[in-house]
Amino acid sequence: QMCIRDSSYIITVSYKNDNKEQMEMKRKWWHDKVAYQIYPKSFLDSDGDGIGDLRGIISKLDYLKDLGIDIIWLSPIYQSPFVDQGYDISDYYKIAEEFGTMEEFDELLAEAKKREMFILMDLVVNHCSDKHEWFQKALEDPEGEYAQYFHFVQGKDGKEPSNYRSYFGGSAWEKVPGTEKYYLHMFAKEQPDLNWENPKLRDEIYKMMNWWLDKGLAGFRIDAIINIKKDLSFPSFEPDGTDGLASCVKMVEEVQGVGEYFEDMKAHTYGKYDAFTVAEVFNMKQDELPEFIGDNGHFSTIFDFSAHELVQGSHGWYDSRPFVFTDWRDVIFASQKEAQGIGFKANIIENHDEPRGASRFLPEYAQNETGVKMLATTFMFLYGIPFIYQGQEIGMTNCRRSDISQYDDISTKDQYREALQAGCTREKALECCYENSRDNARTPMQWNGGKNAGFTSGTPWLALNSDYRKINVEEQEKRDDSVLSYYRKLIALKKSSEFKEVLTYGRFVPEYEDSDSIFAYHRIREDGGQNILVAANYGKETCEIPLKRELIKVLISNIGEEDVIEREAKKSGKIKLNSCQAVALEIKE
Ligand code: GLC
Repeated sequence: QMCIRDSSYIITVSYKNDNKEQMEMKRKWWHDKVAYQIYPKSFLDSDGDGIGDLRGIISKLDYLKDLGIDIIWLSPIYQSPFVDQGYDISDYYKIAEEFGTMEEFDELLAEAKKREMFILMDLVVNHCSDKHEWFQKALEDPEGEYAQYFHFVQGKDGKEPSNYRSYFGGSAWEKVPGTEKYYLHMFAKEQPDLNWENPKLRDEIYKMMNWWLDKGLAGFRIDAIINIKKDLSFPSFEPDGTDGLASCVKMVEEVQGVGEYFEDMKAHTYGKYDAFTVAEVFNMKQDELPEFIGDNGHFSTIFDFSAHELVQGSHGWYDSRPFVFTDWRDVIFASQKEAQGIGFKANIIENHDEPRGASRFLPEYAQNETGVKMLATTFMFLYGIPFIYQGQEIGMTNCRRSDISQYDDISTKDQYREALQAGCTREKALECCYENSRDNARTPMQWNGGKNAGFTSGTPWLALNSDYRKINVEEQEKRDDSVLSYYRKLIALKKSSEFKEVLTYGRFVPEYEDSDSIFAYHRIREDGGQNILVAANYGKETCEIPLKRELIKVLISNIGEEDVIEREAKKSGKIKLNSCQAVALEIKE
């Protein structure tokens, strides 16, 4: 079966025109790096309390180094009541007891440095915890200095100042006890928003950031940062749900000027260091990409959330849009082309807020090791910096629960309620959680097939995914054809001296877009003429791809042997891709 309808189709790319821009893009130290996200609570528990910790992380640095990781992002490890799993910080200068001590953190920094690895902390400064000293003082004196650190706003006609719904459901306003005022919280009520208009607050934040940078951090992953600018008149919007509320994101979309805060923060903190910053940015306004990630952008990079945005429902998980392969490919391609010549995006297939990629992006017939390797191939060579999420490298999957009580995540509970309120059955609401819950990514890391997957000797804080006896690091270490071994090969190829340049800076050019099962693209080096073709067959049927240029070498394939594939392709001028096969080829320019 020929999947490519027009076999005379030739790569006619206009990269020569915009090539100049890309050539002029400044090289940065982190461009050729591979990053890895650790969710500390679920990574590895060294002391048997059921919660992952710093000691556990330190003990796995060699494992990460072996995988080929350079940059490690730690989800929050600061002191926190953990209402939103550490994204509610009660002291920015303290390590959560659950995770260890500051000495251990310093040790982690030193051990990482020894291995030429870089540590990023999560920077959560749109909000803090209601247990933070600032907020406690604000409550004590709602007219005082610390109230100015937050948005304490007079109610309107005895009601909330506006009709905003928080990201985690319910009103984004909570009464300040003993007053007619309300405080703003765009996330949980235990996460009061900080007032960035206040220069004192900004100074406190900058001081804290510099304190961490001075310790030797390589930079930050910057949480929810697009939300820091508020429209201080807090206008109400047309309700968009049966609760009569409007998503607080409407204000974020309307308000202007957040970039000034970013520039201020950058100038006072990471701009003075050669730090790396990756921002979580949804709802960027059109054409702002150069301001965000250009040579002198606010941040080094931002995550590419186009896949997330594609399936996001207008009301919640219960009305998520179905995942369609070609739509997904289209949005990734569009995002790649948009970034090219401007800067790098941070590519992900999952993170601690998303379902597992192995479950989300693969059709049922591809939900196996071969499929997971195909997804990995597609992802690894994209233009940008790859961020691997813990467990992705062994193909961890979504986790089924039989009752909502088995979930921990605050957002999952809210989405479940929403689904029931919208008239879904309990089964349907649970199915939505299975597909979307943030807990899918938060179940403990599966190190081996023994007790609690080797994650803890105690009781894990969140129940494991029962597939750990099948999917775990120890088992995959032993096999050359495992997902883990394959990830190692992909990363080694990406970083090899021969292909590093092309796989880092090479121009991204989509290929075979007229097929509805192939995900393929080139990375083309402008100077030396190297051309890499990455091609994957997401379809159920075998496909033949006519090669339009002479094949030099099959660099990697997730099925079969590279030299056999190469010989056959050289003979026939075609590449035969089985269902779920992915290859990277070097072809003549
Ligand atoms: C970001 C984090 C998420 C958290 C939220 C509030 O989206 O990734 O986990 O719940 O911000 O801090």
